[in-house]
Parts: sequence; structure tokens; C-alpha cells
Amino acid sequence: MKLEIKDLHVSVSGKEILKGISLEVNSGEKHVIMGPNGSGKSTLAKAIMGHPKFTVTSGEMLVDGKSINSLATDKRARLGLFLQFQDPVEIDGVGFISFLRAAKESIDGKAVGMKDFMKDMRGNISSLKLGDEFIGRSLNQGFSGGEKKKAEVLQMAMLKPGIAILDEPDSGLDIDAIKVVAENINKIADSTKPGLLIITHHTRILGYMKPDFVHVMVDGRIVANGGSELSDRLEKEGYNSYISKGSETSR
Ligand SMILES: Nc1ncnc2c1ncn2[C@@H]1O[C@H](COP(=O)(O)OP(=O)(O)OP(=O)(O)O)[C@@H](O)[C@H]1O
Ligand SMILES: [Mg+2]
Repeated sequence: MKLEIKDLHVSVSGKEILKGISLEVNSGEKHVIMGPNGSGKSTLAKAIMGHPKFTVTSGEMLVDGKSINSLATDKRARLGLFLQFQDPVEIDGVGFISFLRAAKESIDGKAVGMKDFMKDMRGNISSLKLGDEFIGRSLNQGFSGGEKKKAEVLQMAMLKPGIAILDEPDSGLDIDAIKVVAENINKIADSTKPGLLIITHHTRILGYMKPDFVHVMVDGRIVANGGSELSDRLEKEGYNSYISKGSETSR
């Protein structure tokens, strides 16, 4: 699967946030986006998933060469796109299991057998070091910050997307949990080879999962591209040298 973003401009409430983003993510590739608070990273993630608040004013988003600009979110998910939110929402009364199974059936377009589903689920719950009682709970309701983030990695493990965008999968996680989450993301990367677009502020998680490409976003533009050495340099030097630089094309 291939996701292409071409000169994407996105506005929220009439204000331009993304000012020409170009990016290409293929199955099996690990991309990382870093950048200062408010630079537009979450906006890019939400625009790719078709969040109604984010208006694409120009540019193109393509999956395997076909434009998804006018597709609704559920159709994008059916194509194999997945978004882990920076701040997952809580939904009371919706059981985690039934939510996930319904999502999987909708995406796969066929019934999902309960036995295999639960086996896969239990395996992933254990590997994410979440308690078994997790299975009976409402979606994100009363989950701790770390549990919410793990629950989203669990969703990714179950849904097996072709391209996944992870918005700060490490935020709010304790030191051990970062390692567990990174190992589980690596496990998914090794088994189903999704293209990964990981947004993060911290290089700790990158120590466990070497990125193929690192992109730096500043003020709605990608201002630098590199490999994992770029994230190491950012950790030492910060973003100052990139602020008020022009944009570059990226892949
Ligand atoms: N719904 C909204 N209404 C108005 N402005 C918004 C909305 N969503 C985002 N913005 C603005 O868009 C800009 C980019 O926000 P975004 O959340 O994409 O940043 P970010 O790079 O993800 O930052 P962080 O690292 O803090 O998560 C910010 O100035 C933000 O205030
Ligand atoms: Mg954000």
C-alpha cells in the first residue's frame, strides 16, 4: 500500500495550518515526524483520516494512486488507513470487544469469527501487558493515559491496517510502557508490514524502533528530511535552526 501526500494545504476555522506538505509512505517503511508544538502534526494526521473540521484547500492525498480527498473516514479505514489519536476519546457503554469486532467486520467487509478474534485479542492484551479484565470494559472509559495509548496499539494489532498513523504513541507512558509499546509496534511492523507514520516528541521510543525516514515539521511545512541521525541531532540541538527556514519536498 502506498500513501502519497502532494502539496497538501489544510485549514481549520478559516486559518491555514498546513502550507504544502508532500510525503510518501509505503508498506514496510517507518517514518517519523517531529516538530514543535502547534506545527501541524496532528492536523496532518486528522486530515489524512478525513476529520470534518480540517478542510483540504488544495493538494492531493492518494492511496495506491487514487485520490481519497473526498472519501468519508470509514471508507478511508476500509482502504487500510488507521489513526491512533494523540488524545483518545472515552465512549461510555460501548464495550471494547464489540467496538473492535464491529470495526474489524466493517473494514474487512465480512463476519469475524469470535473464537479466532478472542484468541488474537488475548494474545495482544498479554503482550501489551494490559490486564485480562480489559476485555470487559467500555471503550477508553476510565482508562489511564497509558492504558488508552496501549488500547490504541491493541486496535492497530487487531485491525492490521496497511498504513498506520500513530500520533504520539509514547506520550504519557512510563519508561517500561514505552518499551512495551515500541516492542508491540515492532511486532506488528514485522508481521503485517504496514507503512508507519509516527509522530513523536521524544527519541526514547525511536531507540527501540529505528526509523527509515525522519521528517521535521515547522509551521505547517516539512523543513528537513533525513534518517535516524536527524532525530538524534534534534534531540541535542532543538528546532531553533529550522524555525523560519523554507520548505523542502520530502518523501
Ligand atoms: N479545531 C481547531 N480549531 C482551531 N485551531 C486549531 C484546531 N485544531 C488545531 N488548530 C491549530 O492548528 C495548529 C496546529 O495544531 P496541531 O494540533 O496540528 O499541532 P501539533 O503539531 O500536533 O502540536 P503538538 O506537538 O502540541 O501536539 C495550532 O495552532 C492549533 O491551535
Ligand atoms: Mg499533536
